[in-house]
Amino acid sequence: MENKFNIIWYNELDSTNSEALRHIDDFDNLSVIAAKCQSKGRGQRGNRWFSAPGENLTFSIVLKPGADGLRKISVRDYFDLNRVSSLSVVSFLSILGVDASVKWPNDIYVKNRKISGILIENSLAGEEIASSVIGIGINLNQTDFPELSNATSVKIITGNSFSVEDALELFCKEFGKTISLLGSNSLSETYEEKLFQKGRLCRYSDYIRDREFDGIIKGVTESGRLIVKEGEEERTYAFKEIGYIL
Ligand code: BTN
Repeated sequence: MENKFNIIWYNELDSTNSEALRHIDDFDNLSVIAAKCQSKGRGQRGNRWFSAPGENLTFSIVLKPGADGLRKISVRDYFDLNRVSSLSVVSFLSILGVDASVKWPNDIYVKNRKISGILIENSLAGEEIASSVIGIGINLNQTDFPELSNATSVKIITGNSFSVEDALELFCKEFGKTISLLGSNSLSETYEEKLFQKGRLCRYSDYIRDREFDGIIKGVTESGRLIVKEGEEERTYAFKEIGYIL
């Protein structure tokens, strides 16, 4: 697929995801809605996403599977979009000198600190994804996070600052490479290689059984459930059924 990203910069938006969703019919496949400042940045589980104006990347990529040579994506494979977006952030960060991993399903961590978050909002047509808004926040130049205790940034880790415009161009290149892996085994393999805490005995909250336990992440099922082993027992979890105790 030839990747023709169309990056549209705004000085301020409530949320790049909200803007993309409001005008989804007007935006072409691979439009990138980027804001220097978001007044109501949205995170997962109804949380807010805080980002100092002008310092970080906050943007949303509009995907229209089936358009411009982008393969169709069945609802069954929706987790592949988590894989593509998480791995794009990881490879982008690695170019900037940051070694990051994916805290399932799609938070990006460096050691025990969060450097990037992803909010994917899909609309469906029957059994297929008609459009997807992939909202990504990446902490680039911010060094002070008053609202957050576990945040980090590229600047904190490397000491270097980056232009947000150049950084977004670079990110789109990485995203273009990663999305071409859709439908291949190497997408899930690379995602698993980058999984935070995989293979290590760590403590988790099981929200279904209302208990904490020590377990080992073994991987992720094709449909995106987290596989965790406790002693001899292997269980799989959906989002919101398990929490990391860091
Ligand atoms: C999370 O980790 O909770 C997800 C955070 C997603 C934040 C990004 S910033 C750009 C896009 N617009 C939003 O309102 N949210 C996403």
